[in-house]
Amino acid sequence: MSRKPIIAGNWKMNKTAQESAEFIQAVKDKIPAKDLVDSVVGAPALFLENMTGAVKGTDLQVAAQNCYFEEAGAFTGEISPKALSALGVDYVIIGHSERREYFHETDEDINKKAHAIFRNGMVPIVCCGESLETYDAGQAESFVGKQISAALQGLTKGQVASMVIAYEPIWAIGTGKSATKDDAQKMCAAIRQVVAGDFDQETAESVRIQYGGSVKPENIAEYMACPDVDGALVGGASLQADSFLALLEAVK
Ligand code: PGA
Repeated sequence: MSRKPIIAGNWKMNKTAQESAEFIQAVKDKIPAKDLVDSVVGAPALFLENMTGAVKGTDLQVAAQNCYFEEAGAFTGEISPKALSALGVDYVIIGHSERREYFHETDEDINKKAHAIFRNGMVPIVCCGESLETYDAGQAESFVGKQISAALQGLTKGQVASMVIAYEPIWAIGTGKSATKDDAQKMCAAIRQVVAGDFDQETAESVRIQYGGSVKPENIAEYMACPDVDGALVGGASLQADSFLALLEAVK
């Protein structure tokens, strides 16, 4: 089965509204056709309204970096998935290791968020990945497998087939120390096996799995050549327009 590549930038807590607008202006007419590759920018919630407006009619799509699992209510400071959807946001990144570590998000929270994102007509990009300690102990596969089973619990096969999983070893995020392509392939294949076991083979062959962690224009082709890697979730190298466009060029 051929799966369409998906490249998603994760800006994290970077840029001002002005800088985000300048970025969109610089890239929006140079995005490859959406039938070749899904090109996504994950921006801070503050700019999403401007961004979904600015990308209208282009092939660029917009992701939020987080949301809450309730649509509305007394949840001070949280981001409503219903409100994101109303802005025209396409994807929501959930379960990033920074959110798990600094904001204490649990597998159960991430599962509830995945359901809420689907309920509101958007697509979750569910992140998973192990620490260096877990990797060195040879337990990466079982650790990540558990994260994925928990995140996907109760979703339908159709939902899982349409979603995105991002495998990001924590030791490779923002460190410049990327995983080898063999590591990335092995883990993405293992994740697909978990999906096959929890759902079925057809679902596993449809779900798109990204590698993330120090992906750059210079190394993205190596990862994309791996049969089970369908794209990349990119932090640092997605912040500059030139570098973001170079990532897209390399996969289209
Ligand atoms: P990086 O971040 O590309 O800067 O390593 C990836 C991520 O955290 O999504």
